[in-house]
Amino acid sequence: MTELVHTRADLARARSACTGTVGVVMTMGALHEGHETLLRQARARVDHLIVTIFVNPLQFGPNEDFDRYPRTLEDDLEVCRRARVDLVFAPSVAEMYPGGEPVVRVSPGSLGEDLEGLSRPGFFHGVLTVVLKLLQLTRADLTFFGEKDFQQLTLVRRMCRDLDVPVEVIGVPTVREPDGLALSSRNRYLSPVERSVALNLSRALRAGAEAAAAGRDAGSVLSAAHLAFGAGEPGARLDYLVLTDADLEPGPVRGPARLLVAAWVGGTRLIDNAEIRLDPKS
Ligand code: PAF
Repeated sequence: MTELVHTRADLARARSACTGTVGVVMTMGALHEGHETLLRQARARVDHLIVTIFVNPLQFGPNEDFDRYPRTLEDDLEVCRRARVDLVFAPSVAEMYPGGEPVVRVSPGSLGEDLEGLSRPGFFHGVLTVVLKLLQLTRADLTFFGEKDFQQLTLVRRMCRDLDVPVEVIGVPTVREPDGLALSSRNRYLSPVERSVALNLSRALRAGAEAAAAGRDAGSVLSAAHLAFGAGEPGARLDYLVLTDADLEPGPVRGPARLLVAAWVGGTRLIDNAEIRLDPKS
């Protein structure tokens, strides 16, 4: 049975009844098949699974879609029930931030200012602050994050390491439609035409991965990805398409690497990424 709680007090009561390992999956709701897969994988690894559903105002910029962000609690609960989630914590903004906007926030450092952080200033301060709060409130042993938001996953890992947060952070591979489109809550904003334009992102990643598999060096892999993006459906506005090392650290890229892309399709900003294995000698 899936229990729903809205307050810290009820969460603490339900949490203290848990024995064995506790996992948490944090979400902003609008759960789709990608979340469901993540929840099922998480469920298989822990004795109790908590899901948090909270649209975090701290990570939305003034021109972003906080009010427009879909809120679908009943449907989300159905997904959680199917995935055998034990506990759902769906707090209000006042419950999460009882003192109003927090004055002290977690700083993501320079990595938080790059890639997503460049076009979304303050975004990762908001993400890491709420993630840390939810880790404290749930006291989870394991936490699961989708690789689709790869910079977020990397920063959460880094925060837990740098701040000695006692939790194991587990990355879960991106779930895709059969044609390659990464599942995302934002896909619901795409018209049928925009949906086919959105395929340019995964097409670019595939071209990069194929070039790497053919033994090409970092520069050629990136060129192949750009070429594929440019040759796709017109109408996507590229924000970035970059090849970095596997931990998003600056420096020469060799061996395990990550290809990351962000683009606007109509009024919707989409992101995606793929693991790339470069020949260490290339
Ligand atoms: O990835 C998300 O949905 C959010 O950034 C998260 C981790 C739930 C924090 O609000």
